[in-house]
Amino acid sequence: MMPRRLKPVYIIVLAVLAGTMLFAQKKSVKHDAAVQQEEFGTREGRPVNLYTLKNAHGIEIKAMNYGGIIVSIRVPDRKGQFADVVLGHDKLEGYIPNPPYLGAIVGRYANRIANGTFTLDGKTYTLPKNDGPNTLHGGTTRTFDKVVWEAEPLKGKNGVAFSYLSKDGEEGFPGNLKVKVTYTLTDSNELLIDYEATTDKATPINVSQHSYFNLAGQGTGDILDHEVMINADRFTPVDKNLIPTGELRPVKGTPMDFTTAMKIGARIDDNYEQLQLGHGYDHNYVLNRKGPGMQLAARVYEPTSGRVLEVSTTQPAVQFYSGNFLDGTVTGKEDRVYKRRYGFCLETQHFPDSPNHPNFPSTILKPGETFHQKTSFKFSAK
Ligand code: GLA
Repeated sequence: MMPRRLKPVYIIVLAVLAGTMLFAQKKSVKHDAAVQQEEFGTREGRPVNLYTLKNAHGIEIKAMNYGGIIVSIRVPDRKGQFADVVLGHDKLEGYIPNPPYLGAIVGRYANRIANGTFTLDGKTYTLPKNDGPNTLHGGTTRTFDKVVWEAEPLKGKNGVAFSYLSKDGEEGFPGNLKVKVTYTLTDSNELLIDYEATTDKATPINVSQHSYFNLAGQGTGDILDHEVMINADRFTPVDKNLIPTGELRPVKGTPMDFTTAMKIGARIDDNYEQLQLGHGYDHNYVLNRKGPGMQLAARVYEPTSGRVLEVSTTQPAVQFYSGNFLDGTVTGKEDRVYKRRYGFCLETQHFPDSPNHPNFPSTILKPGETFHQKTSFKFSAK
């Protein structure tokens, strides 16, 4: 009789125990997936926070809501040793100013607009010039890399969304442009970057991510031994101001050809006019596409660490920049001095100066439309 009567009690105790264990497990999973937030300083009298995304394999990405800047990306090499593979600063102050645009979101118009002007629907717009005669990366003061964004950690996902309202007339551009950039770190070691924007007046838009990578570890040396493949049969040659001439030139037979993997340094100083104009690689590659959607844009392999970076995107092009303007004047994380070609960028985007090139894919966003682009940076080692 006794054990029989106690049975329901055992069941209840067991159920409670199981429930507690399940809850505890859920809580820790939730904790692992949760985005950590810490104070990083203030700007424009507003708090700047650092958000840490960490995945099941220990990959850790830190980004802040000032400039949407990616501050660090820690990934393992072939032996499982972690290193930070992006250039940046230990403190917020280091980013003010940030002339090389280390880690930043660039816009409203990433890359160059010739002579700081364009005409849209019969009206001519004048933008501030900050690159000789050109406007580079959106202008001078309130550009995407230099403003405080609203931040919202994603619920139930390992990510953070940054939003910014670029007001009508800001940096000379028309329309109130609402932009949202979301960073998500997956358990397949991918950083997904999702860009969305809407406007109330037609405006050019070209947004990109300006992280400088060194897969051997940030600040450890130049990137000339990295092996790069770029999935592009053509690029847009530039003039002396780095403005596209309008030509789409085949890379075949030139030192611009990365259709099969090549060391960045193998031909960078060749006697080829485009390399001299760019002081190395600083060119827009037209991606080979099989229709719309995510497309592999580039793959980079660093032989000593074995680290691999794969870049995929919905964008039509990628700017391959070999860090030619880094000149040792910026001291970054862990007091590392960033010398010439200590980092490379793969900035997925539309073609430079598109508003002045009717033959290039359009960058005009109209009211009622939604701008949507995606890029992924996937890390591995071999
Ligand atoms: C882009 C440009 C480069 C340079 C950097 C920032 O990659 O194409 O020419 O301006 O940004 O220094």
